[in-house]
Amino acid sequence: MKEVFKGTVEVPSKVILFGEHAVVEGYGAISMAVDLKTRGRIFESEKDIVINLRDLGRSLTLNIEDIPTLNLRNYNSSVKYVLCAIKSIVNYLKDRGYEDFKPFKLDISSDIPVSCGLGSSASVVATTIKSFLSANTISIPKKELCKICFSVEREVQGKASITDTATVIYNSVLKIKNSNDFEVLEGTKLYKLLKGCHFLVVHVERRKKKTAELVKEVAEHPRKEEIFRSIGEIVNKVEEVSTWEELGDLMVKNHKLLRELGVSTSKIDKVVELGSRYGYGAKLSGAGGGGVVIILTDEDRREGLLESLRELEVLDVFECKVGVKSEIKRDKK
Ligand code: PMV
Repeated sequence: MKEVFKGTVEVPSKVILFGEHAVVEGYGAISMAVDLKTRGRIFESEKDIVINLRDLGRSLTLNIEDIPTLNLRNYNSSVKYVLCAIKSIVNYLKDRGYEDFKPFKLDISSDIPVSCGLGSSASVVATTIKSFLSANTISIPKKELCKICFSVEREVQGKASITDTATVIYNSVLKIKNSNDFEVLEGTKLYKLLKGCHFLVVHVERRKKKTAELVKEVAEHPRKEEIFRSIGEIVNKVEEVSTWEELGDLMVKNHKLLRELGVSTSKIDKVVELGSRYGYGAKLSGAGGGGVVIILTDEDRREGLLESLRELEVLDVFECKVGVKSEIKRDKK
């Protein structure tokens, strides 16, 4: 039987430009959506909700009646994000009087390398929930969507800030004011400056630890209060900068503080060093322990930078510009 296609949902990924880790403890952060996407393709289904996780090669079949009481304990975290997302949106809607949800089939696939600082889990959670809403022709305010997605992130991951969730849902540049409040920066002086920037997102190496573990380790760092305060001061300065040089300097200062927190690696430091030598500055982005570095490039010295990154054998390089479709997977190994 031919499948009836109902539509596609797309959600971007994100980088944190300033403030990771400190944001979990209530300091500010600046984040930016990146045009590497998770896609949900929705089809009609006779009964059940069937979710195919293309990148994991897994398929989940859910009886709609069973969803509100799903026991998530026996699933690994990649599957848990999706199941928790479905359970959360069903319970949210049931609490508001909705019932008789439609069965549908959802194929989820993603451009986003997992577990490297690009917010793949937030992107998958938002794709799942938006697809459920689309299949049932229900719309809810963005703020509510954000709250539900964030609660899923927290339930699966433990301690977290709203940064990833809000950035991928609002698909813009955000100032995170504390761990669960934020502002979209469109139209501001910083937004205008960032719009002219050329960034490279470098997937340097695979992470050996999950975000939750890294957040826990940082929480035990003896000087974390002092370091978080310094990171918070950098975030406060960001909105005042007028040039790429100033922005790059703050990125490098932020990176040094992340290194003091113990979340950088020698390969990440090498890439940050290249980013400063050939560009305006660079820093690791996300929880660290491997993962991605964001470089503010100087387009005149770009070829030298790309050549040096190739020599270092980084895993992937993505271009990224605010409000412009990224040319992704440039230079993929
Ligand atoms: O590496 P990611 O994408 O999981 O980002 C983590 C950012 C942290 O600030 C370390 C945690 C958080 O929830 O904000």
